[in-house]
Amino acid sequence: MSWKIVDSGNAKIERRDEPWCTEAMKARWTAEIIPRYETRHGALMPILHEVQHEYRHVPYQAMIELATFLQIPPAEVLDTVSFYEEYTVEPVGKCVIGICQSIACEVCGHQALLDHVRDELGIDPHETTEDGLFSLLAMECLGSCDTAPVALFNETLHENLDIPTIDRLIAEARQVGDGGSEH
Ligand code: FES
Repeated sequence: MSWKIVDSGNAKIERRDEPWCTEAMKARWTAEIIPRYETRHGALMPILHEVQHEYRHVPYQAMIELATFLQIPPAEVLDTVSFYEEYTVEPVGKCVIGICQSIACEVCGHQALLDHVRDELGIDPHETTEDGLFSLLAMECLGSCDTAPVALFNETLHENLDIPTIDRLIAEARQVGDGGSEH
């Protein structure tokens, strides 16, 4: 993946009056997620997954709200969000295309796929199209090296990819208009 330099030390956290973690969300997490874990901290990742899914990113304000809710330091939440590619601090497109760039996929032509998607959508990795429909990621090994090259369209893995198949998946995502959540 490529790394973006962010001046975090001087960043101003945007806040809104309405909480991102609503009372209804917290009530459900309390009833359904927290009891599954020995500590409240253990529930952090599945709850972050829900926030990411709901808002297509995890706003800084939501991290602070989550830290209060889980009774853990805000830095723990930020560490987790910044470590895993699954979580983003900027809104991602409805369809996130993650093309594997690790060794097996590299050998099997990931670059041609990445270049094609970049040209087709007019975005670089870690960018989102202006219509908010697509985001592009270059990801590390997705655990399916024997079927390289592979890519995720949201949470669905597509194997043995070639450019016509990528084009079809992008066209279907555009047509569905919900980012291809069916893929
Ligand atoms: S290198 Fe791409 S799935 Fe492992």
